[in-house]
Amino acid sequence: MSERGEDDVSVFPSGVWRYPTEIRFGVGAIAELPSAVKSAGIARPLVVTDNGLAGHAMIADARARLEAAGLPTALFSQVRGNPVGADIEAGMTAFRDGDHDGVVAIGGGSALDAGKTIAMAARQPRALFDLHVSAGGPAAIDGSRVAPMVAVPTTAGTGSETGRAAVVTDERVHEKRIFLHATMMPKVVIEDPQLTVGLPANLTAWTGMDALAHCFEGLCAPELHPFSDGVAVEGLRVIKEFLPRAVLDGTDLEARGMMLAAASMGSTAFQKGLGAIHSLSHPVGARYDTHHGLTNAVFFPYVIVHNRASIHEKCDRLAAYLALPKGGVDGVLDWILTCASASTSRTPWRSWGSTTPGWTRLPPPPRRIRRPRATPCRCSRPT
Ligand SMILES: NC(=O)c1ccc[n+]([C@@H]2O[C@H](COP(=O)([O-])OP(=O)(O)OC[C@H]3O[C@@H](n4cnc5c(N)ncnc54)[C@H](O)[C@@H]3O)[C@@H](O)[C@H]2O)c1
Ligand SMILES: [Fe+2]
Repeated sequence: MSERGEDDVSVFPSGVWRYPTEIRFGVGAIAELPSAVKSAGIARPLVVTDNGLAGHAMIADARARLEAAGLPTALFSQVRGNPVGADIEAGMTAFRDGDHDGVVAIGGGSALDAGKTIAMAARQPRALFDLHVSAGGPAAIDGSRVAPMVAVPTTAGTGSETGRAAVVTDERVHEKRIFLHATMMPKVVIEDPQLTVGLPANLTAWTGMDALAHCFEGLCAPELHPFSDGVAVEGLRVIKEFLPRAVLDGTDLEARGMMLAAASMGSTAFQKGLGAIHSLSHPVGARYDTHHGLTNAVFFPYVIVHNRASIHEKCDRLAAYLALPKGGVDGVLDWILTCASASTSRTPWRSWGSTTPGWTRLPPPPRRIRRPRATPCRCSRPT
């Protein structure tokens, strides 16, 4: 009998993938958490989750599995959505005080990013906000002091589980800061579709729009990186097929599993770069504490229109691959508008299959943006 038990093979294929890191994938994969933690070299894990999931049965279940395997745990859950520096500092203290040697992060992007940052920063000699990419950057991080971590995503969107980056808001200046280092890639990822079944429909849609934005911005980023482009295009196909299913029926394990895969594909693809959707979404999220995926959904169509002149060849190929009813940028835009309006509307799910673009339901773009990043077409820099 496998670690996952006998009933895991009947529903949906499982597997172990080793790109871009080791991913143990499939229904029941959570049973492999203890062996994953041991193979990551962790003996005394700090379990990190967010304050919304702290009392959830899946956290107690994961800790029970670890304890039963001889891995004593402590729980740190003072992590809010859009985690801030104070959350990370408290987690770093818990990590040091408990003499932990690694992190098991369970949750959405907020919990995973918090866990990654705690594991990275807890034993660094420098202050937390001296280490982000716009300050010291990767060169300021001592890789030998980064603790190993295992990631267990319970949303399917950010792809934090398969990325080298974490996003934390510096609450003193209301800016999202990115921490990036090769050693921040989780050693092992557990992707079990059953863990995402309880995610409500709105959060399923919003997080899915984040994965969609990652694949699309990764594809459209101008640098040469054919590997990323291939992952991005297939990620977009998976999302087109499975995101509506996951939203409409949260118990659809195939859709849940494929969206977990697509989320990991998104962060793999955006190693090449992101674009103006994220450049707009990050400052708005830092200032107004909006959900990241929802904010992306609002900006997404406007950024496509802005970039139209530079992305038409990629959109031609993408529209053909996705078999969209209309070709080119307009075909992609119609599809994205359908997704974005279904995700942001108050009555979204009935209209998910609609082919009517939803411009009128989208709020206007912000008047001010700060620090626009590299993007296919240059953004202006309003003062
Ligand atoms: N590291 C990266 O590359 C990267 C990429 C994109 C976004 N992010 C960051 O990730 C964060 C957003 O993450 P998110 O979109 O996953 O949302 P989230 O982690 O903030 O979670 C949203 C809500 O869903 C709840 N939740 C999570 N899983 C659940 C489940 N299975 N059942 C029921 N409720 C559940 C959480 O408790 C929380 O209340 C932001 O801080 C964003 O900046 C990071
Ligand atoms: Fe994102």
